[in-house]
Order: sequence, then structure tokens, then C-alpha cells
Amino acid sequence: MPVTLTVNDKEHTVDASPDTPLLWALRDYLELTGTKYGCGMALCGACTVHLDDQPVRSCVTPISAVGSRKVRTIEGLQSKEAQAVQAAWEKERVPQCGYCQSGQIMSATALLAGNANPSDEAINTAMAGNICRCATYVRIRQAIKEAAVSLKNA
Ligand code: FES
Ligand code: FES
Repeated sequence: MPVTLTVNDKEHTVDASPDTPLLWALRDYLELTGTKYGCGMALCGACTVHLDDQPVRSCVTPISAVGSRKVRTIEGLQSKEAQAVQAAWEKERVPQCGYCQSGQIMSATALLAGNANPSDEAINTAMAGNICRCATYVRIRQAIKEAAVSLKNA
């Protein structure tokens, strides 16, 4: 049964079963492959997207549960927080293999949009569900702090 999704500010009709995970609707139907599959069980964060600006695990979110909420993927991230995060990620050379990084950036961007000056504890809490097998955690935290400073000085 077709399901209508608003993704990156455009409406799409996806002809898939309502219980299809949002991750697969994005990757297989809309060819938005920046969102990654890791565990499929809400454990790793690789599949993180925003629903109405809140980070969610798209691997366990059926498309029937999205409703009118706006989906944003790494391909559609354009906010000032996203720009600051991207610049800090480049400056700190955060990614190694890169596989987890779109999920990390989605979580970091949502954190900064809701908390312009996050403490170490707030960063750790917000990012705890994003696993990085290359262990880039120290650089991720540094980049988030730099992004917060650049947003404050903007
Ligand atoms: S693939 Fe969704 S949390 Fe791991
Ligand atoms: S950069 Fe390789 S898994 Fe995170």
C-alpha cells in the first residue's frame, strides 16, 4: 500500500508495505544511501535520521509510524548547526572508515539545535547510542565543542 513521506522537504509516495522500516524506504525506494545500515536493532545509530528535527533510528521506525512528520537525512541537512558540524568535522578530520559518520552527524546536529552549549555530559548522553567501530569518539566530542563555539561566535 503506498505511503506518503516528506523527506528533505519533498513529498514522496513509496509503494511499500506500511511495516517497511524507514531506513529501507530511504535507501531502496528513494536512493538516499547516506543513511547506513548497521545493526537493524536500534543499537548502533548508523541509521539515524531526523523526524521533525529529533534523531530517531530509522531501522526500527516503520514508515506507517512516520505520518506527517518531516524526515531529514544527511543529504538534506542544511541548518546552521549542520554547517558548523560539517566544518568542525573537516577541521578535526573526524571520520576514519566513515561508515558511522552520517548517523553521528545527525545526532550531533540535533544536539546542538536543542542545546547551543552542551556540557561533556550532555554530549556523552546525546551521542551514547552512536557506535563507531573505528573509535573516533574523542574527535567527535572535540568537533561538537568546536561547532558549538563557532555557532556562538557566528
Ligand atoms: S542500524 Fe539502526 S541503530 Fe543500528
Ligand atoms: S568512522 Fe568507521 S565506524 Fe566510525
